Amino acid sequence: MLRSLFISLSQNKQLRAFSERSKFGRQMSGRFVAGMSIEDVLAACERVNREGIAATLDALGESVSTESEARGSADVYHQLIDAIASRKLNANVSLKLSQMGMDFDPALAETIVGELVDHATQANTFVRIDMEGSNYTEATLALTERLHTSNGHHGHVGTVLQAYLYRTAADAERLLGQGIRIRLCKGAYKEPPELAWPQKQDVDTNYVSLMKRLATSGVFCGIATHDEAIVNQMLAFVKERRLQPSAFEFQMLYGIRRDLQRKLAKQGFGVRVYIPFGPEWYPYFMRRLAERPANVIFLLRNFFKS
Ligand code: FDA
Repeated sequence: MLRSLFISLSQNKQLRAFSERSKFGRQMSGRFVAGMSIEDVLAACERVNREGIAATLDALGESVSTESEARGSADVYHQLIDAIASRKLNANVSLKLSQMGMDFDPALAETIVGELVDHATQANTFVRIDMEGSNYTEATLALTERLHTSNGHHGHVGTVLQAYLYRTAADAERLLGQGIRIRLCKGAYKEPPELAWPQKQDVDTNYVSLMKRLATSGVFCGIATHDEAIVNQMLAFVKERRLQPSAFEFQMLYGIRRDLQRKLAKQGFGVRVYIPFGPEWYPYFMRRLAERPANVIFLLRNFFKS
């Protein structure tokens, strides 16, 4: 119930406008968001890189409604790609299609993201297209496929699959068949029972089955979860099948299970942290509270302590 409440609040425009402007809101968001500026996220990236952990940088923002907003979002990503190359960071970028104009002009979004993938290819880095709610799934897969086959982009663009959707096993085969890199996550949006497993246990079972499929596919994949029981199942599977650590990487969110991130990196596994930044932090932050409502108490306690 609390999960649904926080997901609904994540879409509330008034609360969003108020929170993003308030000092209190910005301070609270600091637990999961690296800061407001490009310099903030680059500094956070350098910090995690020093611990032997890679990063994917996310300029927060979703659902823009004008071409200039979409191009403005893309411009931030061009600056990030330049900085990754010039500072030799162990990093790539993650973006959302709704942030690039997908809601009002899909052709514009494709052009803008195509330019970013061109740039990432020249800079020898990678663009991950995050997966949003199920009304974006098909369009996101199709766009990723078109970009992957054009302009020497092979291996420089990939997307995300969500284990809570019934369709995901088929989508995984579809992408693997083309050598497209997949990040596997459980899924963070509110979906109806016609499309997604309502019970967490079913989502977890599907996650493990997909994880094993991806890890043995020969296509590099991202195992994105903080679920230690699943991480342990992955470690046991790697041992059982004698998989090379280079076949996959673990991925986790900035500020969540830092202990586990460091432990896995020390054991020699690839670990990548998703580092979001920017003034439009509200929907991202609320989805993190939805995943773990106990975070509200944790954040408030820390706030009043400091
Ligand atoms: P689960 O929610 O079952 O939690 C397992 C354990 O992890 C918890 O018991 C707790 O210990 C810890 N934990 C999880 N969330 C926490 C939180 N917010 N705060 C503190 N502890 C927490 N989703 C999506 O729909 N599209 C996308 O593109 C992405 N991209 C993405 C990238 C990366 C790198 C990650 C790690 C995740 C995503 N997600 C996502 C989010 C994902 O779908 C999912 O909502 C969260 O990862 C939470 O699920 P877990 O797998 O961590 O397990």
